[in-house]
Amino acid sequence: MHHFHLREEALYCEQQGLSALAAQYGTPLYVYSASSIRDNFCRLDTALAPLNHLICYAAKANSNLAILSLLAQLGSGFDIVSGGELYRVLQAGGRADRCTFAGVGKTRHEIEYALREGVYCFNVECEAELETINEIAGMLGKKAPIAIRINPDVDARTHRYISTGKSHNKFGIGLDRAEEVYARAALLPHLQIRGVQTHIGSQILDAQPFVEAICKLIPLVTRLRELYQIEFFSVGGGVGILYKEALESGSPDWWQKNTSSPLTLEKYAAELLPHLSSLGLKILFEPGRSLVGNAGVLIAQVVQVKQTPAKRFVIVDAGMNDLIRPALYESFHQVIPLKPSSVTPGDLADLVGPVCESGDFFLQDVALPELQPGDYIALMSAGAYGFVMSSRYNSRPLVAEVLVEGSHSFLVREREQWADLIRGEHLAI
Ligand code: LLP
Repeated sequence: MHHFHLREEALYCEQQGLSALAAQYGTPLYVYSASSIRDNFCRLDTALAPLNHLICYAAKANSNLAILSLLAQLGSGFDIVSGGELYRVLQAGGRADRCTFAGVGKTRHEIEYALREGVYCFNVECEAELETINEIAGMLGKKAPIAIRINPDVDARTHRYISTGKSHNKFGIGLDRAEEVYARAALLPHLQIRGVQTHIGSQILDAQPFVEAICKLIPLVTRLRELYQIEFFSVGGGVGILYKEALESGSPDWWQKNTSSPLTLEKYAAELLPHLSSLGLKILFEPGRSLVGNAGVLIAQVVQVKQTPAKRFVIVDAGMNDLIRPALYESFHQVIPLKPSSVTPGDLADLVGPVCESGDFFLQDVALPELQPGDYIALMSAGAYGFVMSSRYNSRPLVAEVLVEGSHSFLVREREQWADLIRGEHLAI
């Protein structure tokens, strides 16, 4: 579900024309729709209503303060993976006691910070980490709430870089050793066993792997409830979104129909509910992409069009440093000219950025309209893992972000200037 649409032959985010935003704030520019995020959250929350549940938005998907604040106001908790993310959540008005702290390499400094702030739970990824958390909690005179992340050895059938629930992945503890590790945790005086957690991967478009993982874990979860009176079971995140129509219909405007993903939030909830409702536990969900992915676009401007004997290259001012997903995961983002009617359909071309790497492309060998320098395009579905994964590679300042609500737009991150590039750097001699 998203609020991007064509109106009077121009692309709009809610009631805001995107060309006007590009002209006002410059490009490259991330634009997010507040209503889309709110709708996604409320749809999931409603679908999960039969369960005692807490949605802990995975802040890594998009951690702009304005988005964290919007979700905090809706009552969301947060799944965080660093001290920095906890800091952001608190600055945005989120509550520490609704945060789960995950990650395979939490530092002592981060653990101490999270303990002082009073996070709801540490999701522990290895035995040694139990000892570390126990020791730091002891030093602070606190009891640290913990859950252990269990790796269910389930194939999420997604890109191998974002598959996390197989035994060869670095995440979690194998099901065969889970009870033994819990028993060890129970002996540590400064730990309080609070739950159990799992997460099998991201951009998953089929409920089956989720159900398989949950069913594999249920006997353990039931035992842990008896043994340690655990209060929650977190089933992680991972619901995918539609980046591209499953069957390439050839119609560039499929996204306009607001086609929903094969795994809608309602379907996901309906498939999981029967397995979770009788556990008598609070169920935590950690969605990232499914709440913000379709709620954002990256606007870029055409800088040059270059025709070589081999190809036509449309070169835009956004690069792989601004949106790395195509380069890293070979992912697809639909490209929409901001004024589709003003451009005529063209031949096969590559849509590329200005970065000095051949991997700096958004699309390769696709029928791109006859774009001209100065034209704007939108890279759709860039709200998740877009800005947050950007870098200053090639000394390119980080871009601006705008949040749209109805006909209002808010600059929620200022565009960096060249001076920002060297802030904190010093000449050695
Ligand atoms: N919980 C845990 C423990 C996670 O590791 C993740 C994502 C999530 C929840 C949220 O997953 P989601 O609902 O967003 O699928 N950069 C990649 C995705 C990396 C996902 C990392 N973990 C991409 O752009 O596709």
